[in-house]
Amino acid sequence: MEGKFYVTTPIYYVNDVPHIGHAYTTVAADILARFNRLIGKKVFFLTGTDEHGQKVYKAAQQTGRTPKEHADMLCDNFKRLWKKLDITNDAFIRTTDEEHVKVVQSMLQALFDKGEIEKRLYSGWYCTHDERFWTEKEIIDGTCPECNRSVDRIEEENYFFLMSRYYDPLIKFLRDNPGYIEPESRRNEVLGFLRSNPLGDLCISRPRRRLSWGIPLPFDDNFVTYVWFDALLNYYSATGYLAAPSDGASWWPPDHHIVGKDILTTHAVFWSAMLMALGLPLPRNLFAHGWWTLSGKKMSKSLGNVVDPFDIVSRYGSDQFRYFMFREVSFGLDGDFSESALAGRINSDLANDLGNLANRTIAMANKYFDGVIPQPDGVDLELKSLAEGILLKLEDSLMKLRYEKALDAIWELVTYLNKYVDTNKPWVLAKDEATKGRLRTVMYSLLEGLRFLSLYLYPFMPGAASSLYKVLTLGDISEANILDATNWGSLSYGVKLVGLPQLFPRVELPGAAAHVDTVHGTVADAATSAVLSDLISIEDFARVKLKVGRVISAEKVKGSNKLLKLQVDTGQPRQVVAGIGKHYSPESLVGKSVIIVTNLKPAKLMGVESQGMILAASNGDNLSLITIEGELPPGSTVK
Ligand code: MSP
Repeated sequence: MEGKFYVTTPIYYVNDVPHIGHAYTTVAADILARFNRLIGKKVFFLTGTDEHGQKVYKAAQQTGRTPKEHADMLCDNFKRLWKKLDITNDAFIRTTDEEHVKVVQSMLQALFDKGEIEKRLYSGWYCTHDERFWTEKEIIDGTCPECNRSVDRIEEENYFFLMSRYYDPLIKFLRDNPGYIEPESRRNEVLGFLRSNPLGDLCISRPRRRLSWGIPLPFDDNFVTYVWFDALLNYYSATGYLAAPSDGASWWPPDHHIVGKDILTTHAVFWSAMLMALGLPLPRNLFAHGWWTLSGKKMSKSLGNVVDPFDIVSRYGSDQFRYFMFREVSFGLDGDFSESALAGRINSDLANDLGNLANRTIAMANKYFDGVIPQPDGVDLELKSLAEGILLKLEDSLMKLRYEKALDAIWELVTYLNKYVDTNKPWVLAKDEATKGRLRTVMYSLLEGLRFLSLYLYPFMPGAASSLYKVLTLGDISEANILDATNWGSLSYGVKLVGLPQLFPRVELPGAAAHVDTVHGTVADAATSAVLSDLISIEDFARVKLKVGRVISAEKVKGSNKLLKLQVDTGQPRQVVAGIGKHYSPESLVGKSVIIVTNLKPAKLMGVESQGMILAASNGDNLSLITIEGELPPGSTVK
């Protein structure tokens, strides 16, 4: 179908509660779905739950429920999380849906009738946890190579999908379609795996006496279907009974299956071969993203280090979490989750860059034009072409699932607009009648810039984007068409703005609140809050150890345009991360004597350790480092 877009997430097991890994994949798909709707495509965005198999059966047994009761309960957790994260899935499939079961059975029958499925006596090593057989060569000291649990020797009759027949066609397909598996490194891994391991046939049944919780084979009631064979078919079955009618045309094949790297093989090999055998077109793309770890360790229930997305979203907000996940790590690579990195991003990119831009623009429009969008007196062409040009970059990056690149492109506009305020100084233009025309152009351009930003940001941060759009009185952003809307100058003047809630309140860095506040803020801010909250004694103040430090070297923190990493001599070498990159170039700092708080708890900012804080004074957008008069050696005490 012309103009359609079909994207899927894996269907998640209902043996456990959702964690940030599940949230990551689902938000990734949501961003694509929202963007494609915004460019006018008909979208089918599918997610759901995988409810059969040993894992779910066991989890249910442990809680004394039937597997179906257990699945009903746990699938609700996923649905609740998707609401909380503003996920706009068009359908939610459950593999226990009657319609899905029918499709699986009819596909099995079709393959059986075509001679693609055969019954055989099989003996091998079986891992109950992973629900799969391993060969003698694959097991390691009697344990499963995947989960290290012990495996059992099993000899039984089972049904096999003759997957080995698809060895050559699969390799050919992968070679002929370089974009089928992405990132490229993963495609090479799959090809490498296929070249070094002749493809065996796939055992697709489990005898009922061993596992009853599955879809019965239509041609032999003594067996149920292997859970992966059933699960993978969800992508196809859903198009028949869950997708909105598509003018007689088929939703199949999907544009993207987004999966974690852990389940790429099942998709790239099993699923591709199944589709070939069924005579169905293969999806356009399988994208395997990386893994989120916590302090470098895999998250797991047994290690007790699973990050709960409900908790994170409640404390930091859905937009903030969505933004962080896609800004912090290139899609495809692994990332280490840390709350301080999340808080750092919120304070620097969202509160300082974007929130500040929106708040001061609206505040100035209120002050100078009573909140009415002014008629411009001309067009700033550089800004117009930058703003309009981002659409192509956005489209190009999102087509390739380069989320971080898309955000880079959007941030070019955020940065430009912030500079635009600083260089045009509306507060100066407002003082003189002769520059009122220019003031109108500048303020109109800023508001028009916010309109562009809301459209561009909508797929990533739908909450903030909708609020901005509403302030500009443009209605419901989800109904906008970005292609029509990105003509510079289409914002109507003469319209009254309607308020703006503070978009991104600053957050405290976990365990190092003072640190971040001052690194990103100013001494003046700290002083104000002290006066407001309470007075301190001289003893309190004396607890802060201040020293003169000489900057030995300075460089930008990768991925941030604000943070600089400084090596400072304070009598001892120490590393300090400071949010002064917009005001000082790294080179200009080398050799400077600055004042450092030396007894702050170390903290990590965007993954870089900071062992102190540098003092600066600021007033609005101006910031100046505090230094010393005359010469004093590094390490001198400041009192
Ligand atoms: N039920 C199967 C998938 C069947 S698809 C036909 C399954 N389910 S799962 O609940 O284990 O979910 C796995 C998926 O969750 C991963 O592929 C990935 O999308 C996501 N993640 C789970 N943990 C993750 C991380 N720690 N990091 C990133 N994503 C991970 O496998």
